[in-house]
Amino acid sequence: MSEVVKLQLIGLMIVGSGTLILLLVRAQFVRVVGFVAIVLGLFTLVALSVPQMASLPPIEEKFDIATVKTPTDMATIGQKIFFSKGQCALCHTIGPSESARCPDLKGIGAKLSREFLFESLTQPQAYIYLDYRHEGQPKEYPARMPYINKNPIGLSKNEILSVIAFLQQMSGEPISVNVADLEVPGHAPATPVKVAQSGPVDVAQAH
Ligand code: HEC
Repeated sequence: MSEVVKLQLIGLMIVGSGTLILLLVRAQFVRVVGFVAIVLGLFTLVALSVPQMASLPPIEEKFDIATVKTPTDMATIGQKIFFSKGQCALCHTIGPSESARCPDLKGIGAKLSREFLFESLTQPQAYIYLDYRHEGQPKEYPARMPYINKNPIGLSKNEILSVIAFLQQMSGEPISVNVADLEVPGHAPATPVKVAQSGPVDVAQAH
């Protein structure tokens, strides 16, 4: 017998005894107690009939490098990360949305180079427009895009490369990230990943 069924039986018993009291006992105070028992018992039964939902933390996507054979595999993992651990979908949409507060990422893989994407994720402050809405010299405004490679999101390099593969794939671009770029745990990467240094030089590549 499951826990819930046991509790439901107890609830039924309480409702039953309350009903018996109302039927058999005349004393005013005892009848009030019986009535309260029925109400409480019914509340319990209703509460127990609501389906139980465990709220577990989101499942961590395990990045098992052995299962990744093609860039498409990377994009598949990247898509999962985009909507889970990476938390990208909390802020970004893919396609226009009424409620979007952050850039729509539709087609971003076609607009930005792989290096620029990597930089957008790991150095969000590197290339941000100047703010002209105040007096005096235009100021840089702070990036609201979080550092994806740092806490709390803290994606590994492999996960970031996979997200980039996904962004390229969903933009209809050929995926320029290779499986060989992935870091095998304990080994140096086969071909060092070119990480764009911050600076306006990258802007030129982006367009
Ligand atoms: C807290 C909200 C937030 C989260 C989470 C977030 N972003 Fe962003 N992102 C932004 C904002 C805001 C910008 C615009 C630049 C800025 O203000 O920092 C941006 C900019 C970008 C850009 C550059 C867009 C362009 O047109 O230059 C890319 C690419 C991007 N985000 C991808 C991602 C990916 C991929 C993830 C998940 C791994 C992610 N973002 C998570 C808010 C977020």
